Amino acid sequence: MARILITGASGLLGINLAQETMSAHDITAVDRGKLVNAPFKILNGDLLNPGILDSVLDSAQPEWLINCAALAELEACEDSPGIARRLNIDLPAQMAKACKLRGVSFVHISTDAVFDGEKDGFYTEEDIPNPLGVYAQSKLAGEKAVIAENSNAIVARVNFFGWSLGGRRSLAEFFFHNLTNNKSMSGFTDIKFCPMLVNDTARILVKMLQRNLSGLYHVVGTQSMSKYQFGVEIARRFNLNVSEISPKSVLSSSLIARRAHNLCLSTHKLSTALGEPLPEFSTGLNEFYTQFEQGYPQKIRSYAQ
Ligand SMILES: NC(=O)c1ccc[n+]([C@@H]2O[C@H](COP(=O)([O-])OP(=O)(O)OC[C@H]3O[C@@H](n4cnc5c(N)ncnc54)[C@H](OP(=O)(O)O)[C@@H]3O)[C@@H](O)[C@H]2O)c1
Repeated sequence: MARILITGASGLLGINLAQETMSAHDITAVDRGKLVNAPFKILNGDLLNPGILDSVLDSAQPEWLINCAALAELEACEDSPGIARRLNIDLPAQMAKACKLRGVSFVHISTDAVFDGEKDGFYTEEDIPNPLGVYAQSKLAGEKAVIAENSNAIVARVNFFGWSLGGRRSLAEFFFHNLTNNKSMSGFTDIKFCPMLVNDTARILVKMLQRNLSGLYHVVGTQSMSKYQFGVEIARRFNLNVSEISPKSVLSSSLIARRAHNLCLSTHKLSTALGEPLPEFSTGLNEFYTQFEQGYPQKIRSYAQ
């Protein structure tokens, strides 16, 4: 059992990470007031307030800190680059430094979006990033700042789907809710990515900490697909009407932040370090469906009610 401090615990990754780890570990989560009914310890605070980081570290005395706090919405980052800088660069750098001083193992979460998508094939950790928008630029700068402060830190570039606290955060929930309400929607055919069930992401992050890994790793699914194909997979698994999803090009959307067309990352380095294959997409999708059948989305949402 490890004492784990999770920041960004109300977010899509944070809440599922806390849920996934709380039975085997001692979890303390930092929250800004949403988690009024959580079954793990909560420390309330805004991580941008001066002194709060030291105060939560003093209070939780963690062995591991997993930083899931971020400004993670692309359009919000374009609107508020100053907050993106503080949350996605300055804060992780402070965390990395504080963890080094205190002997705490640190995981910082980054993104597949650091690449420009021009490569034909899967990006490895050796490939040179070229971020396209404010979000991606801030995340790449955050990675560099973390490694510069603390070479023992893990930086995990992720992409995940799952059930969220508000029920609307993930792409899978977008497709699921529109499909169940018989609302037509589009899915981009020209953005490819490697989605992983967020619970798999959580379990892998724990394994990486248990194996004392450090440095940069791609922690995404092993199968690449377009966002449109992902919607089709969700529709098929839930026996919903695939024809409600129209294939569309991202170039014809009204989104402002630029998006790369290829977000597919190689996980070879990670599976080699762990000595095991990463979970298949179909296994994660089946678990996502089973979670739905067993009331997992409602359980997650009850933590905020
Ligand atoms: N979602 C994806 O598929 C995806 C893909 C690639 C990478 N990532 C990365 O994965 C990580 C987690 O993403 P996510 O989707 O789980 O994000 P999310 O759902 O947007 O959650 C962000 C979390 O950060 C917290 N936060 C924001 N500002 C804060 C502040 N000033 N003080 C304290 N907490 C604050 C939020 O709290 P509030 O709820 O109070 O706002 C929330 O808990 C991020 O680093 C993101 O860049 C995500």
